[in-house]
Amino acid sequence: MFEANDPNSIQLTADGQLRHFLTTEGLPRELLIEILDTADSFVDMGEQQVKKVPLLRGKTVANLFFENSTRTLSTFELAAKRLSADVLNLNINTSSTKKGETLKDTLMTLQAMHSDMFVVRHADSGAAHFIAQHVTPNVAVINAGDGRHAHPTQAMLDMLTIRRHKGEFAPLKVAIVGDILHSRVARSQIHALRTLGVHEIRVIAPKTLLPRHIEALGVKVYTEMASGLRDVDVIMMLRLQKERMQSALLPSEAEFYKLYGLNRDKLAYAKPDAVVMHPGPINRGVEIESEVADGPRSLILDQVTNGIAVRMAVMSKAMSGQLSQRAATDNASREA
Ligand code: NCD
Repeated sequence: MFEANDPNSIQLTADGQLRHFLTTEGLPRELLIEILDTADSFVDMGEQQVKKVPLLRGKTVANLFFENSTRTLSTFELAAKRLSADVLNLNINTSSTKKGETLKDTLMTLQAMHSDMFVVRHADSGAAHFIAQHVTPNVAVINAGDGRHAHPTQAMLDMLTIRRHKGEFAPLKVAIVGDILHSRVARSQIHALRTLGVHEIRVIAPKTLLPRHIEALGVKVYTEMASGLRDVDVIMMLRLQKERMQSALLPSEAEFYKLYGLNRDKLAYAKPDAVVMHPGPINRGVEIESEVADGPRSLILDQVTNGIAVRMAVMSKAMSGQLSQRAATDNASREA
């Protein structure tokens, strides 16, 4: 674990613009809406013949992935390319013991190559924050998932997907289902949903997969699907994070599927027009039945498409935040 201070003191400029994107926690509602509005325009652009804009032309984006990923890495890569940046993908496997030092060395090397933005995925909570504290002032850092802590671009692509299908956030009841305990996605979703003002946020999980004091985040807790899914508009499934489970928290996958796996019968508890989401990768027959995952109510592939647009929005905002910060610093030093 790395130490973390108030995230907004580091992720926002003095005039409230985004300069790093580390967490959805505590970000103002207007900023989340701005990201969604910008992303919306990029979704439309993704459907055009020419999918590129020059917003990041001449900039270098380094994708630093200390943990494996397919969709997050490839959508960040595409997002950077559609903004006309040069992109460097680095898959770095580290041993868990010597991260602090390795990380600093890696950073210095990449800074020497004049990277303008680091997109970071790391198995340790707080890693992106740590990097943001140690980069030179002109480098923007985007968190692509740190340990159990946060996965803010995933949460924002989920918000975009909800808004494009449901319109307003205020009337919605949203249920997040499964391995809440190990999920950085759930945490980032909860903060974003709250800030965007949804009517009710529920979490549904066996007791062993619920973090202690989760209610403090403003959610209602359910341990079974029948009552938890009743009348919800949106169902957000999570993957069982087996790689993060240190002890036997589950009797068996078959038992989990029986109680919490989303099939047609359980889907019937929700509203008739409820939509189903999952960040992927999905485990068919563990969290979700194929019939539901591939069915008409599933937005799983829309989430992937929207992920490119949201990542383009976040990258372009962070880059303009960096530039305005630099201009302000230059002015201040000229006046001094
Ligand atoms: C999520 C992640 O890596 O946190 N997946 C993703 O970003 N596509 C969720 C998961 O791995 O379960």
